[in-house]
Amino acid sequence: MKEIDWANLSFGYMKTDYNVRCYYRDGAWGELELCSEETLNIHMAATCLHYGQEAFEGLKAYRGKDGKIRIFRPEANAERLQSTCDGILMPELPTEMFVAAIKKVVKANERFIPPYESGAALYIRPLLIGTGAQVGVHPADEYLFVVFVTPVGPYFKGGFSTNPYVIIREFDRAAPYGTGRYKVGGNYAASLRANKKAHDLGYSCEFYLDAKEKKYIDECGAANFFGIKNNTYITPKSSSILPSITNRSLMQLAEDLGIKVECRPVPEEELETFEEAGACGTAAVISPIQRIDDLENKKSYVISKDGKPGPVCTKLYNKLRAIQYGDEPDTHNWVTILD
Ligand code: PLP
Ligand code: COI
Repeated sequence: MKEIDWANLSFGYMKTDYNVRCYYRDGAWGELELCSEETLNIHMAATCLHYGQEAFEGLKAYRGKDGKIRIFRPEANAERLQSTCDGILMPELPTEMFVAAIKKVVKANERFIPPYESGAALYIRPLLIGTGAQVGVHPADEYLFVVFVTPVGPYFKGGFSTNPYVIIREFDRAAPYGTGRYKVGGNYAASLRANKKAHDLGYSCEFYLDAKEKKYIDECGAANFFGIKNNTYITPKSSSILPSITNRSLMQLAEDLGIKVECRPVPEEELETFEEAGACGTAAVISPIQRIDDLENKKSYVISKDGKPGPVCTKLYNKLRAIQYGDEPDTHNWVTILD
């Protein structure tokens, strides 16, 4: 194997040794199978290809200083996938099976888990697709669950450093009663134009307001938003954002640190009042926000005056990373250690 430059990994695909697959046929899930083939052979009329009957997840495994491998909150991802299945009429995969698949694929690809010192991690990508053939718009009768892994570095340039964001009004990612709260591919297809526009304008990511009123903050690209002021962690409550497991974990850690937590609609103007803000997610971890520009309204909400991550973001980031890498006790039982 070519030497991997662990410290300079980007957030991209790298071939590993194995993936894990499980087929749903005749109303039941089969066995977990270890596979070394990178491609899928599916029917051209599969519902995932035509009608977007597709869901994915994202989580990470970390190598600790003690050499142990820790997987962060896999049960929470299993539950979110079940909620997505309910949303787009796919059969739910039981939590134990999901976690067993994750452990199996991580174990089989152990040599791709970045070393502790590199600060990188193994990204785990579970995928569930409708494989049964349909031409009418109906759910499939057959499904395939696949999990692959790939070693990754930071999602945003510079890792834990501040970045500029831009509010995009002309494209919506998800409607109030649409699929925004599910992790389905269609939401990401809907985000491609907005994401490209943000990048073309020199921003690191697009920022969405609620699709109905364009008044409240929804989320930022593939990450949730949080703002900090008056010793309070404030994060949007909205029916069209993905319930982030990182955000949920940060709310708990904030509470542990004596910081008040509010989950409620956050009007755009409130951006002016935040002392700090961040985008959070598995890939992003915490990406502190430098400023958010609203080009149509000729406004720039500068959040980090000195361009550096603020003290609360830094504390939360360090605390979360310490739990994920096993440097601090896992007091909330979030971590699954690979045996
Ligand atoms: N929001 C969107 C749209 C995402 O794709 C993700 C990534 O999974 C998140 C938020 C963050 O969620 P999590 O913290 O569970 O990774
Ligand atoms: C994640 O944070 O896990 C994501 O899924 C982000 C993205 C690459 C879609």
